[in-house]
This record gives sequence, C-alpha cells and structure tokens, in this order.
Amino acid sequence: MRKAFYLAILMCGASSLFALDNGLARTPPMGWNSWNKFACNVSESLIREAADALVSSGMKDAGYEYVVIDDCWQVSRDAEGNIVPDPQRFPTGMKALANYIHSKGLKFGIYSDTGSKTCAGRPGARGYEFQDARQYAAWGVDYLKFDWCNTTTQNSEASYSLMRDALAKAGRPIVFSICEWGSTKPWLWAGSVGNLWRTTGDIQDKWDVKRDWGGNGVVEILDLQDGIEQASGPGHWNDPDMLEVGNGGMTSTEYRAHFSLWCLMAAPLMAGNDIRSMTDEIRAILTNKEAIAVDQDPLGYQGRRVKRDGKLEVWSKQMADGSRTVALLNRGDAEAEIGVAWTDIGYPNALTAAVRDLWAHQDLGTLQGGFSAKVPSHGVVLIAVRPGAK
Ligand code: GLA
Repeated sequence: MRKAFYLAILMCGASSLFALDNGLARTPPMGWNSWNKFACNVSESLIREAADALVSSGMKDAGYEYVVIDDCWQVSRDAEGNIVPDPQRFPTGMKALANYIHSKGLKFGIYSDTGSKTCAGRPGARGYEFQDARQYAAWGVDYLKFDWCNTTTQNSEASYSLMRDALAKAGRPIVFSICEWGSTKPWLWAGSVGNLWRTTGDIQDKWDVKRDWGGNGVVEILDLQDGIEQASGPGHWNDPDMLEVGNGGMTSTEYRAHFSLWCLMAAPLMAGNDIRSMTDEIRAILTNKEAIAVDQDPLGYQGRRVKRDGKLEVWSKQMADGSRTVALLNRGDAEAEIGVAWTDIGYPNALTAAVRDLWAHQDLGTLQGGFSAKVPSHGVVLIAVRPGAK
C-alpha cells in the first residue's frame, strides 16, 4: 500500500519531465495574432490581409509562419453542437480561410477557451473538446490557443490534458498553446500537455505599468520569467505573451529591447501589430534575422539574468554552438555604461571571443575578459560572444 503510494507520487512528479510528444514547435513558434491590436474586431478580410502582409513585408521569409485569429470569431453552436463562426465577419467560412492561408505557405491558428465561455463571452469548448478538435482538423487548423476564462472550479492540468488528447485524436498536427496566464504555475506541469504556455497575465503596450491594475509591461513580464527558465525547451516553451512591437505605446528603443529580450528568452514570437501598415523601422525590428536566429537556436535554452546592479542588468543565452548571446539592459532613466565579464556568462577570464552587435550588424572585434557599452535608457545592446572566433 505504502509502496504504491510512493510510486504514484514518483510518477506524478515524473510526468512533468516529459515533453508533449507531438513533434511540433521544436523551436519557438513564430507568427501573427489579431488580439493585441484588433481585439474583437476580427474578420475574414483582416486575416487575409494579415497573411498577405506577412508575405509582402518579408516577415514570412524571416520565419513568421502562423496566422492566428484570437477571440471573437465564434458566435454560437448549432443544433448538433458544432461551433459556428460569425457569418457576417467570416462569410466564406473557416475552411476557405485556412485554404487561403495555406496557399501563401503559411499556417492557420485559431482560439478557444477551456471554460464555458471565452474571455469575450463567446462559446467556450467545455464539454465539446473532442467535437471542436475534430472540427478544427477538418477546417485545416494548425495551431490552437486555448484560454482560461469562465472555468469556475475546473482543474487546469486535467482540462488542458483533455484538449491535448482531443487534438491528438483529431488526426492533424496542431500546436497547442496553453493560455492560463501562469495562474497555476504551468511551468511545473504543462511540459507534457502543451507546446507553449503563458507564464503571466496579459501584456500591455507599455515598458512599465507599475502594476496599477494588475497588467504587465515589458519589465514586469521579464521579472516574472526569472527562475522558471528550466521548464522551457524544444517542443515545450514558456510564453511571456505576444509582442507589442509597433502598437504605439513604446519608443523604438523600448521595442528593440522588448524584441531582443523575447529572443533571448526563446519566447514564441507572435507579432501583434497592424502589419499591413507598419513603418520601415518597426518592420526592421520584427525582421532582424540575427535576433531571430537567437530566438530560434536549436538548443532551445531560455536565457536568464546573470547580473543585476540596480537598474542595470545582464542577460545571457547559451547557444547550440557554444557561444553566448548577451543583452545589456538599462532599466534606468538615463544612458549608462553596462559591462559583462566573461566570467558572468560561464567563460574563463582569459578567453578571447569575437563580439558582434546584433542590431548594428557589426563585428566589434576580438576581446579578452569582457565587454562593455553605453546603453540608452530603456534600451538593450544585444551582442553575440563567440569564443576563439576571429
Ligand atoms: C485573454 C488572453 C488574451 C486574449 C483575450 C481574448 O485575456 O490572455 O491573450 O486571448 O483573452 O479575449
């Protein structure tokens, strides 16, 4: 009896060690999602135009792949319980929309909710998990974001596992994106359930919101990633929420920092702006291939804070080739010099390493012992440190 009890405890603990085995999201998923900019104002024409813009802007070439409709595409269920898309806003239906997105070489994502209703009050999936999963597969859905509103007493791990099983039975590879806002510490249990899981409440288009209503700016989200890094890896990612780059609430310096830090954390990169009309400067941030290569590194290591001196921080990400990517982050109100010693990032002091600036796209020379740079207020200097390279 006692033995069985201990065995059960051991097995429970072990389940979180196994990653979801659906073969998907071996690097952090990249794409575009409607919510941050458009909220409930979604339609078939918007989604088609977003797909067109992903291609024409060069974002597809840079790696963005999933076009995801967030909340508000669904209005009701029919007499058989099938989920019904808004006939006014999606007149030709989801299958046709999926076909269009696929014809562009992109993938199609959709949103639902674990509870009885979505956060915007549309029908949720509770009690319809297998029926909905089959419907998504029939439409050609490749990605499901599954929210956590109106779940009353539901258990998160059990509820999300049910949808995982429903998707597995549906017969189509579908990336499973868990969105329970970090409420029940998904980094402890979701590795065997989803391909990615939100670690915080919703991001706001702000550098620092001082938690005035419980929302999160970039730096609040950043702090909440500290200590949960080991849960992330190929196929199962911590998700610090979608990008706000280009939505107007931050400066370009802040957006570059936001993007750099998300890449350093191997975060899913879901653009959340109006990509049909973005400026060249915003496009250049979202398509910085050197930064994206950091995010997409096959090792899948989530970078972490290695040094903190008041408002000045050093973050480091170990890369598959043994190099490090380092972000020098200035959270203060004035420009400041920030230094990283090679010993801060796991190298000996005597090491010589080639340093490259991933925003200036410039080699900065071969340096011994460390590197330092002036960093603007709310900015990041993002560098690659490559041992021994000339
Ligand atoms: C929640 C999620 C958001 C978005 C909205 C939609 O707040 O966290 O990302 O999906 O619901 O209603």
